[in-house]
Amino acid sequence: MLLLLLIAGHETTVNLIGNSILEILREPGMAERLRADPEAIPAYVEEILRCQGSLHMATARYTTAPITLGDQDIDADEFILISLAAANRDPARFDEPDRIDLERPGSRHIAFGHGIHHCLGAALARMEATTAISRLLAKFPKMSLDGEFGDPTWRKSLLIHGLTSLPVRLAARTDSQTVSFADAARFSSRA
Ligand code: HEM
Repeated sequence: MLLLLLIAGHETTVNLIGNSILEILREPGMAERLRADPEAIPAYVEEILRCQGSLHMATARYTTAPITLGDQDIDADEFILISLAAANRDPARFDEPDRIDLERPGSRHIAFGHGIHHCLGAALARMEATTAISRLLAKFPKMSLDGEFGDPTWRKSLLIHGLTSLPVRLAARTDSQTVSFADAARFSSRA
């Protein structure tokens, strides 16, 4: 239970925040838009959950009986991997699935799973991401990606969709203030 809570409750949220900040900083105008309208941040978090969610896969499943899913027949006792990432970019379900669209109606993604195992911490994760994004945008009005430290890099993981490092340059609130970080801060997580 502890292992589940540590991985389910920590890695997922850390990487959701990292993925969100990357997309905000590389999409021209997005940071300004969210700063001007912080009420749009929850919709932004839903879009990141959908198209840059922090889990590629749900936990493993086994079929207990033969089943047909779409045009696929699956026997009993088969091992099943469910790709949340593919489902969340399914063009049959989402118009322009690769685009972050703050006006996209409803939250129809399955980043938090579905059914009886739907994520226990979904509300907490949404709150953490919304709080982190709004505080970072408000505190660092000139935050930008810092190419000097290299490009953001993705972890090579079948399960976690997150960055190994996200070099970010923070800037002072006004030109006269200096940020006490040594030029840049790194949001990083273990590979
Ligand atoms: C961005 C953050 C998160 C994402 C993307 C996420 C995603 C998921 C997904 C996809 C499942 C279902 C797995 C399956 O059906 O195989 C799940 C289950 C679960 N999550 Fe999360 N999760 C997040 C944050 C959290 C947090 C913050 C907690 C706890 C503090 C948490 C606790 C759990 C637990 C206990 C389950 C198992 C529920 C069950 O099997 O009944 N998760 N999560």
